[in-house]
Amino acid sequence: MAEKIIVIDEGTTSTRTMLFDAGGTPLGSAQREFHQHYPGPGLVEHDAAEIWEATLACTREMVARAGGASAVAAIGITNQRETVVFWDRATGEPLAPAIVWQDRRSAADCAALKEAGHEPMVQAKSGLLLDPYFSGTKIGWALAHWPQLKEAGDRLAVGTIESYLVYRLTGGVHVTDASNASRTLLMNLDDRRGWDEELCDLLGVPGTLLPEITGCTTTVGTTDPALFGGAIPITGMAGDQQAATIGQACLTPGQTKATFGTGAFILSASGTTRPHSTNRLLATILVQEGDVRSFALEGSVFVAGSLIQWLRDGLGLLASAGESEGLARSVADNGGVYLVPALAGLGAPHWRPDARAALSGLSFASTKAHVARAALEAQAYQAHDLKSAFAADGVDWAEVRIDGGMAANDWMAQDLADMLDITVERPDFVESTALGAAMLAATGAGLYPDLASAAAAMRGTATRFTPALGADKRKTRLAGWQSALAKVLA
Ligand code: G3P
Repeated sequence: MAEKIIVIDEGTTSTRTMLFDAGGTPLGSAQREFHQHYPGPGLVEHDAAEIWEATLACTREMVARAGGASAVAAIGITNQRETVVFWDRATGEPLAPAIVWQDRRSAADCAALKEAGHEPMVQAKSGLLLDPYFSGTKIGWALAHWPQLKEAGDRLAVGTIESYLVYRLTGGVHVTDASNASRTLLMNLDDRRGWDEELCDLLGVPGTLLPEITGCTTTVGTTDPALFGGAIPITGMAGDQQAATIGQACLTPGQTKATFGTGAFILSASGTTRPHSTNRLLATILVQEGDVRSFALEGSVFVAGSLIQWLRDGLGLLASAGESEGLARSVADNGGVYLVPALAGLGAPHWRPDARAALSGLSFASTKAHVARAALEAQAYQAHDLKSAFAADGVDWAEVRIDGGMAANDWMAQDLADMLDITVERPDFVESTALGAAMLAATGAGLYPDLASAAAAMRGTATRFTPALGADKRKTRLAGWQSALAKVLA
Protein backbone atom coordinates (compact mmCIF):
# COMPACT_ATOMS: atom_id res chain seq x y z
CA MET A 1 0.00 0.00 0.00
CA ALA A 2 1.26 3.47 -0.89
CA GLU A 3 2.17 5.16 2.38
CA LYS A 4 4.61 7.89 1.45
CA ILE A 5 3.58 11.51 1.57
CA ILE A 6 4.90 14.38 -0.52
CA VAL A 7 4.67 17.86 0.91
CA ILE A 8 4.86 20.97 -1.24
CA ASP A 9 6.04 23.80 1.00
CA GLU A 10 5.79 26.96 -1.08
CA GLY A 11 7.48 29.71 0.93
CA THR A 12 8.16 33.36 0.25
CA THR A 13 11.62 32.89 -1.21
CA SER A 14 11.76 29.26 -2.25
CA THR A 15 9.71 26.25 -3.12
CA ARG A 16 10.54 23.04 -1.38
CA THR A 17 9.15 19.56 -1.58
CA MET A 18 9.72 16.89 1.06
CA LEU A 19 9.07 13.19 1.17
CA PHE A 20 7.88 11.63 4.44
CA ASP A 21 6.94 8.15 5.53
CA ALA A 22 3.65 7.68 7.36
CA GLY A 23 5.40 8.02 10.73
CA GLY A 24 6.71 11.51 9.89
CA THR A 25 10.31 10.52 9.13
CA PRO A 26 11.74 12.74 6.38
CA LEU A 27 13.07 10.73 3.44
CA GLY A 28 14.29 13.49 1.15
CA SER A 29 13.81 17.03 -0.05
CA ALA A 30 14.30 19.26 -3.07
CA GLN A 31 14.39 23.05 -3.10
CA ARG A 32 14.49 25.89 -5.60
CA GLU A 33 14.73 29.58 -4.85
CA PHE A 34 12.76 31.93 -7.07
CA HIS A 35 13.06 35.61 -7.92
CA GLN A 36 11.81 38.40 -5.71
CA HIS A 37 10.68 41.39 -7.75
CA TYR A 38 10.75 44.81 -6.09
CA PRO A 39 9.34 47.18 -8.74
CA GLY A 40 9.26 50.14 -6.31
CA PRO A 41 9.38 51.03 -2.62
CA GLY A 42 6.95 48.83 -0.70
CA LEU A 43 6.14 46.71 -3.76
CA VAL A 44 6.91 42.98 -3.77
CA GLU A 45 5.90 40.66 -6.60
CA HIS A 46 6.42 37.03 -7.63
CA ASP A 47 6.05 35.33 -10.98
CA ALA A 48 3.51 32.56 -10.35
CA ALA A 49 4.64 30.76 -13.53
CA GLU A 50 8.16 30.54 -12.10
CA ILE A 51 6.72 29.22 -8.80
CA TRP A 52 4.73 26.60 -10.71
CA GLU A 53 7.81 25.48 -12.68
CA ALA A 54 9.84 25.20 -9.47
CA THR A 55 7.02 23.26 -7.79
CA LEU A 56 6.74 20.88 -10.70
CA ALA A 57 10.48 20.20 -10.83
CA CYS A 58 10.81 19.69 -7.06
CA THR A 59 7.71 17.48 -6.88
CA ARG A 60 9.00 15.33 -9.74
CA GLU A 61 12.22 14.80 -7.78
CA MET A 62 10.30 13.56 -4.77
CA VAL A 63 8.03 11.31 -6.86
CA ALA A 64 11.18 9.71 -8.29
CA ARG A 65 12.68 9.41 -4.78
CA ALA A 66 9.48 7.68 -3.59
CA GLY A 67 9.78 5.15 -6.39
CA GLY A 68 7.03 6.53 -8.62
CA ALA A 69 3.52 7.98 -8.25
CA SER A 70 2.04 4.65 -7.14
CA ALA A 71 4.22 4.73 -3.98
CA VAL A 72 2.79 8.09 -2.92
CA ALA A 73 -0.39 7.98 -0.83
CA ALA A 74 -0.99 11.70 -0.84
CA ILE A 75 0.24 15.22 -1.47
CA GLY A 76 -0.04 17.93 1.17
CA ILE A 77 0.35 21.61 0.30
CA THR A 78 1.39 24.45 2.56
CA ASN A 79 2.20 27.94 1.42
CA GLN A 80 3.13 31.56 2.04
CA ARG A 81 -0.24 33.05 2.88
CA GLU A 82 -2.09 36.16 1.59
CA THR A 83 -0.04 36.35 -1.64
CA VAL A 84 -2.51 36.55 -4.53
CA VAL A 85 -2.33 35.10 -8.04
CA PHE A 86 -4.42 36.15 -11.06
CA TRP A 87 -4.68 33.56 -13.82
CA ASP A 88 -6.46 32.52 -16.97
CA ARG A 89 -8.86 29.62 -16.36
CA ALA A 90 -8.35 28.40 -19.92
CA THR A 91 -4.56 28.12 -19.87
CA GLY A 92 -3.62 28.26 -16.17
CA GLU A 93 -1.12 31.00 -17.06
CA PRO A 94 -0.82 34.08 -14.81
CA LEU A 95 -2.37 37.26 -16.18
CA ALA A 96 -0.44 39.60 -13.87
CA PRO A 97 2.32 39.49 -11.27
CA ALA A 98 1.46 37.78 -7.99
CA ILE A 99 1.19 40.42 -5.24
CA VAL A 100 3.16 39.19 -2.24
CA TRP A 101 1.99 39.40 1.39
CA GLN A 102 4.81 41.87 2.15
CA ASP A 103 3.54 44.28 -0.52
CA ARG A 104 2.20 47.58 0.79
CA ARG A 105 0.54 48.98 -2.36
CA SER A 106 -2.96 49.01 -0.89
CA ALA A 107 -1.89 51.02 2.19
CA ALA A 108 -3.83 54.12 1.05
CA ASP A 109 -6.96 52.04 0.37
CA CYS A 110 -6.71 50.54 3.85
CA ALA A 111 -6.25 53.99 5.40
CA ALA A 112 -9.34 55.29 3.55
CA LEU A 113 -11.44 52.31 4.66
CA LYS A 114 -10.32 52.83 8.25
CA GLU A 115 -11.03 56.53 8.03
CA ALA A 116 -14.54 55.70 6.79
CA GLY A 117 -15.06 53.62 9.96
CA HIS A 118 -15.14 50.13 8.42
CA GLU A 119 -12.51 48.45 10.60
CA PRO A 120 -14.80 47.29 13.46
CA MET A 121 -17.11 45.46 11.03
CA VAL A 122 -14.15 43.97 9.14
CA GLN A 123 -12.53 42.78 12.36
CA ALA A 124 -15.77 41.37 13.75
CA LYS A 125 -16.35 39.29 10.64
CA SER A 126 -12.89 38.34 9.37
CA GLY A 127 -10.84 38.45 12.60
CA LEU A 128 -8.33 40.62 10.70
CA LEU A 129 -7.50 44.32 10.54
CA LEU A 130 -7.37 46.78 7.67
CA ASP A 131 -3.72 46.37 6.73
CA PRO A 132 -2.29 45.90 3.22
CA TYR A 133 -0.82 42.57 4.42
CA PHE A 134 -4.05 40.67 3.71
CA SER A 135 -5.18 39.53 0.27
CA GLY A 136 -8.50 41.38 -0.09
CA THR A 137 -7.26 44.92 -0.64
CA LYS A 138 -4.49 43.62 -2.92
CA ILE A 139 -7.12 41.96 -5.13
CA GLY A 140 -9.24 45.13 -5.11
CA TRP A 141 -6.19 47.18 -6.07
CA ALA A 142 -5.26 44.83 -8.93
CA LEU A 143 -8.78 44.79 -10.38
CA ALA A 144 -8.84 48.59 -10.33
CA HIS A 145 -5.36 49.10 -11.82
CA TRP A 146 -4.56 46.22 -14.19
CA PRO A 147 -6.87 46.45 -17.26
CA GLN A 148 -5.94 42.97 -18.52
CA LEU A 149 -7.78 41.49 -15.54
CA LYS A 150 -11.04 43.21 -16.52
CA GLU A 151 -10.47 42.29 -20.15
CA ALA A 152 -10.13 38.60 -19.23
CA GLY A 153 -13.81 38.63 -18.11
CA ASP A 154 -15.01 35.16 -17.10
CA ARG A 155 -11.60 33.65 -17.80
CA LEU A 156 -10.09 35.37 -14.77
CA ALA A 157 -9.50 33.22 -11.68
CA VAL A 158 -8.07 34.58 -8.44
CA GLY A 159 -6.62 32.71 -5.49
CA THR A 160 -3.80 32.41 -3.02
CA ILE A 161 -0.73 30.31 -3.83
CA GLU A 162 -2.11 26.89 -2.74
CA SER A 163 -5.19 27.58 -4.84
CA TYR A 164 -3.07 28.28 -7.91
CA LEU A 165 -0.92 25.19 -7.37
CA VAL A 166 -3.99 22.94 -6.98
CA TYR A 167 -5.42 24.44 -10.17
CA ARG A 168 -2.23 23.59 -12.08
CA LEU A 169 -1.69 20.20 -10.44
CA THR A 170 -5.23 18.97 -11.08
CA GLY A 171 -5.80 20.70 -14.40
CA GLY A 172 -8.60 22.99 -13.27
CA VAL A 173 -9.91 22.44 -9.72
CA HIS A 174 -10.43 25.92 -8.20
CA VAL A 175 -10.40 25.59 -4.41
CA THR A 176 -8.76 27.06 -1.33
CA ASP A 177 -8.70 25.68 2.20
CA ALA A 178 -10.35 27.42 5.14
CA SER A 179 -7.05 28.42 6.82
CA ASN A 180 -5.83 30.25 3.71
CA ALA A 181 -9.29 31.69 3.08
CA SER A 182 -9.26 33.17 6.58
CA ARG A 183 -6.33 35.42 5.57
CA THR A 184 -8.10 37.20 2.72
CA LEU A 185 -10.36 39.69 4.57
CA LEU A 186 -13.19 38.24 2.49
CA MET A 187 -14.35 35.46 4.80
CA ASN A 188 -16.64 35.59 7.82
CA LEU A 189 -15.06 33.26 10.39
CA ASP A 190 -18.46 32.50 11.93
CA ASP A 191 -20.23 31.68 8.69
CA ARG A 192 -19.81 28.49 6.69
CA ARG A 193 -21.55 29.66 3.53
CA GLY A 194 -18.39 30.80 1.82
CA TRP A 195 -17.22 34.29 0.97
CA ASP A 196 -18.89 37.17 2.74
CA GLU A 197 -20.91 39.41 0.42
CA GLU A 198 -20.54 42.54 2.51
CA LEU A 199 -16.74 42.17 2.72
CA CYS A 200 -16.44 41.35 -1.00
CA ASP A 201 -18.52 44.42 -1.90
CA LEU A 202 -16.55 46.67 0.44
CA LEU A 203 -13.22 45.67 -1.14
CA GLY A 204 -14.52 45.53 -4.73
CA VAL A 205 -13.89 41.80 -5.19
CA PRO A 206 -16.60 39.82 -7.04
CA GLY A 207 -17.07 36.47 -5.26
CA THR A 208 -17.34 34.74 -8.67
CA LEU A 209 -13.57 35.14 -9.18
CA LEU A 210 -12.76 33.29 -5.98
CA PRO A 211 -12.23 29.58 -5.29
CA GLU A 212 -14.53 27.27 -3.36
CA ILE A 213 -13.53 27.01 0.32
CA THR A 214 -12.78 23.46 1.50
CA GLY A 215 -11.56 21.77 4.68
CA CYS A 216 -7.86 21.23 5.37
CA THR A 217 -8.01 17.41 5.34
CA THR A 218 -10.37 17.19 2.37
CA THR A 219 -9.37 15.37 -0.82
CA VAL A 220 -9.64 18.22 -3.28
CA GLY A 221 -8.64 16.30 -6.39
CA THR A 222 -5.92 14.17 -7.93
CA THR A 223 -2.93 15.32 -9.92
CA ASP A 224 -3.10 15.23 -13.70
CA PRO A 225 -1.60 11.78 -14.51
CA ALA A 226 0.53 13.37 -17.23
CA LEU A 227 2.54 15.32 -14.63
CA PHE A 228 3.98 12.53 -12.46
CA GLY A 229 3.25 9.31 -14.35
CA GLY A 230 0.16 8.58 -12.26
CA ALA A 231 -2.60 10.37 -10.36
CA ILE A 232 -1.81 11.31 -6.75
CA PRO A 233 -4.58 12.57 -4.43
CA ILE A 234 -4.17 15.99 -2.80
CA THR A 235 -5.54 15.38 0.70
CA GLY A 236 -4.18 18.13 2.95
CA MET A 237 -3.75 21.91 2.75
CA ALA A 238 -3.09 24.78 5.11
CA GLY A 239 -1.32 28.12 5.19
CA ASP A 240 2.29 27.70 6.32
CA GLN A 241 1.84 29.23 9.77
CA GLN A 242 -1.18 27.09 10.52
CA ALA A 243 0.71 24.05 9.22
CA ALA A 244 3.65 24.83 11.53
CA THR A 245 1.25 25.09 14.49
CA ILE A 246 -0.09 21.64 13.62
CA GLY A 247 3.44 20.30 13.00
CA GLN A 248 4.35 21.46 16.52
CA ALA A 249 1.26 19.63 17.80
CA CYS A 250 -0.13 22.88 19.25
CA LEU A 251 -3.76 21.84 19.05
CA THR A 252 -4.89 22.27 22.66
CA PRO A 253 -6.07 25.79 23.62
CA GLY A 254 -3.15 27.90 24.86
CA GLN A 255 -0.39 25.86 23.18
CA THR A 256 1.82 28.29 21.28
CA LYS A 257 4.35 28.14 18.47
CA ALA A 258 6.62 30.77 16.95
CA THR A 259 8.02 30.27 13.46
CA PHE A 260 11.05 32.32 12.49
CA GLY A 261 11.03 32.21 8.69
CA THR A 262 10.98 35.22 6.39
CA GLY A 263 8.79 36.82 9.05
CA ALA A 264 7.97 35.65 12.57
CA PHE A 265 4.50 34.33 13.19
CA ILE A 266 3.26 33.35 16.63
CA LEU A 267 0.03 31.39 16.95
CA SER A 268 -1.76 30.14 20.06
CA ALA A 269 -4.39 27.46 19.53
CA SER A 270 -7.85 28.57 20.67
CA GLY A 271 -9.92 25.39 20.13
CA THR A 272 -13.33 25.52 18.51
CA THR A 273 -14.28 28.88 20.04
CA ARG A 274 -13.23 31.81 17.93
CA PRO A 275 -11.02 34.34 19.75
CA HIS A 276 -11.76 38.08 19.74
CA SER A 277 -8.70 40.28 20.22
CA THR A 278 -8.85 43.69 21.79
CA ASN A 279 -5.08 44.09 21.50
CA ARG A 280 -4.55 44.21 17.73
CA LEU A 281 -3.94 40.48 17.32
CA LEU A 282 -5.62 38.38 14.64
CA ALA A 283 -8.26 35.69 14.89
CA THR A 284 -7.61 33.07 12.26
CA ILE A 285 -8.70 29.56 11.31
CA LEU A 286 -6.13 27.07 12.52
CA VAL A 287 -7.63 24.08 10.77
CA GLN A 288 -10.90 22.79 9.42
CA GLU A 289 -11.36 19.01 9.67
CA GLY A 290 -14.54 18.06 7.88
CA ASP A 291 -16.98 20.70 9.07
CA VAL A 292 -15.25 21.36 12.38
CA ARG A 293 -13.29 24.58 12.51
CA SER A 294 -10.72 25.36 15.13
CA PHE A 295 -9.13 28.74 15.59
CA ALA A 296 -5.94 30.45 16.67
CA LEU A 297 -4.90 33.86 17.94
CA GLU A 298 -2.00 35.19 15.85
CA GLY A 299 0.66 37.83 16.07
CA SER A 300 2.37 38.48 12.72
CA VAL A 301 5.80 40.10 12.58
CA PHE A 302 6.84 40.93 9.03
CA VAL A 303 10.61 40.82 9.29
CA ALA A 304 12.66 38.03 10.91
CA GLY A 305 14.94 35.89 8.72
CA SER A 306 14.64 38.48 5.97
CA LEU A 307 16.53 40.88 8.28
CA ILE A 308 19.54 38.58 8.36
CA GLN A 309 19.23 38.09 4.61
CA TRP A 310 19.23 41.86 4.17
CA LEU A 311 22.31 42.25 6.39
CA ARG A 312 23.96 39.68 4.11
CA ASP A 313 22.69 40.72 0.65
CA GLY A 314 21.61 44.34 1.09
CA LEU A 315 24.42 45.60 3.33
CA GLY A 316 27.07 42.94 2.69
CA LEU A 317 27.69 42.82 6.45
CA LEU A 318 27.58 39.03 6.69
CA ALA A 319 29.07 36.41 4.38
CA SER A 320 26.37 33.91 5.36
CA ALA A 321 23.25 33.97 7.53
CA GLY A 322 24.85 31.41 9.87
CA GLU A 323 27.67 33.86 10.64
CA SER A 324 25.24 35.96 12.72
CA GLU A 325 25.33 33.48 15.61
CA GLY A 326 29.12 33.59 16.00
CA LEU A 327 29.12 37.38 15.72
CA ALA A 328 26.40 37.71 18.38
CA ARG A 329 28.37 35.50 20.73
CA SER A 330 31.62 37.38 20.08
CA VAL A 331 30.50 40.47 22.02
CA ALA A 332 29.51 40.65 25.68
CA ASP A 333 26.36 42.62 24.99
CA ASN A 334 24.68 44.75 22.34
CA GLY A 335 26.82 47.79 23.24
CA GLY A 336 23.65 49.92 23.31
CA VAL A 337 22.83 49.14 19.66
CA TYR A 338 19.19 48.40 18.78
CA LEU A 339 17.75 47.49 15.40
CA VAL A 340 14.02 48.00 14.90
CA PRO A 341 13.39 45.92 11.78
CA ALA A 342 10.50 47.85 10.23
CA LEU A 343 11.82 47.27 6.69
CA ALA A 344 8.29 46.45 5.51
CA GLY A 345 6.41 48.54 8.06
CA LEU A 346 5.41 47.01 11.37
CA GLY A 347 2.84 44.26 11.84
CA ALA A 348 1.35 43.10 15.14
CA PRO A 349 0.67 44.64 17.53
CA HIS A 350 1.43 48.04 15.95
CA TRP A 351 0.10 47.72 12.38
CA ARG A 352 2.02 50.66 10.96
CA PRO A 353 2.63 50.12 7.23
CA ASP A 354 4.34 53.53 7.10
CA ALA A 355 6.96 52.76 9.79
CA ARG A 356 10.56 52.38 8.64
CA ALA A 357 13.50 50.55 10.19
CA ALA A 358 16.04 52.20 12.47
CA LEU A 359 19.47 51.29 13.76
CA SER A 360 20.16 53.31 16.88
CA GLY A 361 22.71 53.71 19.66
CA LEU A 362 25.75 53.57 17.35
CA SER A 363 29.12 54.89 18.50
CA PHE A 364 32.72 54.51 17.25
CA ALA A 365 32.91 51.47 19.51
CA SER A 366 30.13 49.71 17.56
CA THR A 367 31.16 46.87 15.28
CA LYS A 368 29.32 44.67 12.87
CA ALA A 369 29.10 42.10 15.68
CA HIS A 370 26.93 44.57 17.63
CA VAL A 371 24.70 45.09 14.61
CA ALA A 372 24.36 41.32 14.06
CA ARG A 373 23.58 40.88 17.75
CA ALA A 374 21.00 43.68 17.63
CA ALA A 375 19.35 41.96 14.65
CA LEU A 376 19.04 38.68 16.55
CA GLU A 377 17.97 40.40 19.76
CA ALA A 378 15.21 42.15 17.80
CA GLN A 379 13.54 38.75 17.34
CA ALA A 380 13.20 38.29 21.08
CA TYR A 381 12.01 41.89 21.60
CA GLN A 382 9.31 41.55 18.96
CA ALA A 383 8.23 38.21 20.47
CA HIS A 384 8.19 39.86 23.90
CA ASP A 385 5.85 42.61 22.67
CA LEU A 386 3.54 39.97 21.27
CA LYS A 387 3.65 38.02 24.54
CA SER A 388 2.29 41.10 26.33
CA ALA A 389 -0.47 41.54 23.72
CA PHE A 390 -1.45 37.85 23.96
CA ALA A 391 -1.49 38.05 27.76
CA ALA A 392 -3.71 41.14 27.58
CA ASP A 393 -6.06 39.09 25.38
CA GLY A 394 -6.15 36.41 28.10
CA VAL A 395 -3.61 34.01 26.55
CA ASP A 396 -0.57 33.84 28.82
CA TRP A 397 2.06 31.59 27.21
CA ALA A 398 3.33 28.85 29.54
CA GLU A 399 6.04 27.93 27.04
CA VAL A 400 6.63 28.44 23.35
CA ARG A 401 7.64 25.97 20.63
CA ILE A 402 9.89 27.45 17.99
CA ASP A 403 10.77 26.44 14.44
CA GLY A 404 11.74 27.86 11.06
CA GLY A 405 15.19 28.47 9.57
CA MET A 406 16.32 30.99 12.20
CA ALA A 407 15.32 28.73 15.09
CA ALA A 408 18.37 26.57 14.35
CA ASN A 409 20.42 29.41 15.90
CA ASP A 410 21.10 28.29 19.49
CA TRP A 411 22.04 31.78 20.63
CA MET A 412 18.73 33.16 19.44
CA ALA A 413 16.75 30.30 21.00
CA GLN A 414 18.39 30.96 24.38
CA ASP A 415 17.89 34.72 24.02
CA LEU A 416 14.19 34.12 23.40
CA ALA A 417 13.91 32.02 26.57
CA ASP A 418 15.77 34.75 28.47
CA MET A 419 13.71 37.67 27.22
CA LEU A 420 10.33 35.90 27.36
CA ASP A 421 11.23 34.34 30.71
CA ILE A 422 9.62 31.04 29.76
CA THR A 423 10.87 27.72 28.40
CA VAL A 424 11.45 27.59 24.67
CA GLU A 425 11.18 24.18 23.03
CA ARG A 426 12.69 23.41 19.64
CA PRO A 427 11.92 20.17 17.81
CA ASP A 428 15.01 18.35 16.58
CA PHE A 429 13.38 18.23 13.13
CA VAL A 430 12.88 21.95 12.70
CA GLU A 431 10.74 21.85 9.51
CA SER A 432 7.46 21.97 11.41
CA THR A 433 5.62 23.60 8.50
CA ALA A 434 6.30 20.69 6.16
CA LEU A 435 5.63 18.17 8.92
CA GLY A 436 2.27 19.81 9.67
CA ALA A 437 1.29 19.56 6.02
CA ALA A 438 2.34 15.89 6.08
CA MET A 439 0.08 15.35 9.13
CA LEU A 440 -2.84 16.99 7.29
CA ALA A 441 -2.26 14.94 4.13
CA ALA A 442 -1.84 11.70 6.12
CA THR A 443 -5.11 12.38 7.96
CA GLY A 444 -6.88 13.27 4.71
CA ALA A 445 -5.61 10.06 3.14
CA GLY A 446 -6.99 8.00 6.03
CA LEU A 447 -3.60 6.94 7.42
CA TYR A 448 -4.72 8.35 10.79
CA PRO A 449 -8.27 8.68 12.15
CA ASP A 450 -7.84 12.38 12.95
CA LEU A 451 -5.29 15.16 13.05
CA ALA A 452 -4.62 14.83 16.79
CA SER A 453 -3.58 11.17 16.28
CA ALA A 454 -1.39 12.13 13.31
CA ALA A 455 0.28 14.89 15.34
CA ALA A 456 0.90 12.59 18.31
CA ALA A 457 2.44 9.92 16.08
CA MET A 458 4.49 12.12 13.75
CA ARG A 459 6.07 14.83 15.95
CA GLY A 460 9.58 13.85 17.02
CA THR A 461 11.84 14.75 19.93
CA ALA A 462 12.72 18.29 21.04
CA THR A 463 15.39 20.34 22.85
CA ARG A 464 14.44 22.77 25.63
CA PHE A 465 15.98 26.16 26.45
CA THR A 466 15.26 27.52 29.94
CA PRO A 467 15.50 31.17 31.01
CA ALA A 468 18.85 32.11 32.55
CA LEU A 469 18.95 35.92 32.54
CA GLY A 470 18.53 38.04 35.67
CA ALA A 471 15.44 40.24 35.91
CA ASP A 472 17.51 43.46 36.02
CA LYS A 473 19.35 42.75 32.79
CA ARG A 474 16.08 41.81 31.08
CA LYS A 475 14.48 45.04 32.25
CA THR A 476 17.39 47.18 31.05
CA ARG A 477 17.44 45.57 27.63
CA LEU A 478 13.67 45.86 27.22
CA ALA A 479 13.83 49.53 28.19
CA GLY A 480 16.48 50.10 25.48
CA TRP A 481 14.27 48.38 22.91
CA GLN A 482 11.17 50.31 23.97
CA SER A 483 12.91 53.64 23.52
CA ALA A 484 14.28 52.64 20.08
CA LEU A 485 10.81 51.43 19.07
CA ALA A 486 9.14 54.60 20.32
CA LYS A 487 11.27 56.67 17.90
CA VAL A 488 10.18 54.49 14.97
CA LEU A 489 6.53 54.75 15.96
CA ALA A 490 6.65 58.52 16.62
O1 G3P B 1 1.69 35.37 6.23
C1 G3P B 1 2.90 35.24 5.54
C2 G3P B 1 3.54 33.93 5.85
O2 G3P B 1 2.71 32.88 5.51
C3 G3P B 1 4.91 33.84 5.20
O3 G3P B 1 5.59 32.77 5.71
O4 G3P B 1 7.42 31.17 5.96
O5 G3P B 1 7.51 32.78 4.12
O6 G3P B 1 7.84 33.55 6.49
P1 G3P B 1 7.21 32.60 5.54
